[in-house]
Amino acid sequence: MTQTRQDDTSEGTSHIVVMGVSGSGKTTIAHGVADRLGWEFAEADDFHPQRNIDKMSAGIPLDDDDRGPWLEDVAAWMAARAADGRSTVVACSALKRSYRDILRDGPPRVGFVHLDGPIAAIGERLSGRTGHFMPASLLQSQVDALEPLDAGEHGIQLDLRQTPDQLIAAAVDWIETAF
Ligand SMILES: Nc1ncnc2c1ncn2[C@@H]1O[C@H](COP(=O)(O)OP(=O)(O)O)[C@@H](O)[C@H]1O
Ligand SMILES: [Mg+2]
Repeated sequence: MTQTRQDDTSEGTSHIVVMGVSGSGKTTIAHGVADRLGWEFAEADDFHPQRNIDKMSAGIPLDDDDRGPWLEDVAAWMAARAADGRSTVVACSALKRSYRDILRDGPPRVGFVHLDGPIAAIGERLSGRTGHFMPASLLQSQVDALEPLDAGEHGIQLDLRQTPDQLIAAAVDWIETAF
């Protein structure tokens, strides 16, 4: 009993990743969902090493070698909270299946909320945003890299053109009823 205690605690937690390209609303929605559920929030962007930030600032897309260690750090952050019995919501682009596989290797029970929609709607938002290290010129490379959730992946796709309140409510509803 005591031997499996840690695993039991971690099995009872839930870990949501709000995914999508830059400007899709990940930070806004993930933060709102974490607030509503009282779960711990993290911004995957904050886990980037400086050399990744420098690359993105220079308009150079990150490659998989840049992203592997970064995603492993995000997965480790979720796993550490799971071991403490805490559930989490993370804002993370998680564009490719292989990236999501790394995140799924962290804690048990990882689910994805994909904020999806037309690139034009996202482009409009990004052009109005300042003080962020992701230039709008990288948006197309993100859209090209995006691999939507497969049928076998645990997650839900939401239309990012809804209001933040609608998206947060839809995500919370899915988490509480279907996750
Ligand atoms: N559903 C939405 N409708 C309208 N604007 C939104 C919505 N979600 C986010 N925004 C705005 O769009 C911009 C990008 O959102 P953000 O959450 O930073 O996206 P991401 O984290 O995916 O890059 C922000 O200015 C944010 O306030
Ligand atoms: Mg963000």
